[in-house]
Amino acid sequence: MAVRLDKFLADYGFGTRSEVKKLISKGKIKVDGITIKKAESKVNENSIVSIEDIDVVYREFVYYLMNKPAGYLCATKDKSQPVVLDLLEDYRKNLAIVGRLDKDSEGALLLTNDGKLNHFLLAPSNKVAKKYYVKLDSVLPENAKEILENPIKFKDFETKGSIFQQIDDCSAYLTIWEGKHHQVKRMFERIGCSVKYLKRVEFAGLNVDDLPIGQYRELTSQELEMLLQYKK
Ligand code: URA
Repeated sequence: MAVRLDKFLADYGFGTRSEVKKLISKGKIKVDGITIKKAESKVNENSIVSIEDIDVVYREFVYYLMNKPAGYLCATKDKSQPVVLDLLEDYRKNLAIVGRLDKDSEGALLLTNDGKLNHFLLAPSNKVAKKYYVKLDSVLPENAKEILENPIKFKDFETKGSIFQQIDDCSAYLTIWEGKHHQVKRMFERIGCSVKYLKRVEFAGLNVDDLPIGQYRELTSQELEMLLQYKK
């Protein structure tokens, strides 16, 4: 059965109809090896469609890991400020961001269209570990570990403890299992330290050691297998 090229690409999850039309008009799509610039061109089940020379293979869900740079909001759209989705290829703008990092934070950020996994990774009961590296504007107090690893009461929530690993006088790793707004900064404020640099070095066992800042990649099959355990 023949269908329009823009419908085919949208159905395969490469963006909305207007997004895929842009890809087509930019000459990024080939059908059977020939660049096609008309969205209304027809393809059928035997057509080989490629985007930037990579064959389109249908996958319901896709999973990307980004090393978020500072200066980008974790939002899908904003009127005046750059958002992390600006860093993705045009045909991947349909992904949701799993959890949030502050605009000035860097590090591991997962993007997916798998709503169920997204939900499970954010549920506090699933205890998904998030490890942060922080640089502070002052020397850590001696009782930092004791205070941070025990529950801390804020007016809107109480932490469930953490793992604190001091690196030197003014830097440390902190692992937590919740993800409240500004949680790490607020925890360090409680011990009199202001966070001047924050990077999420691990999220649900995923790290961005191999990813330059601002870059993203698909999860490996091992990483995906590890994550999908949370979906069960
Ligand atoms: N905690 C914060 O305070 N900021 C982040 O970006 C992430 C966790």
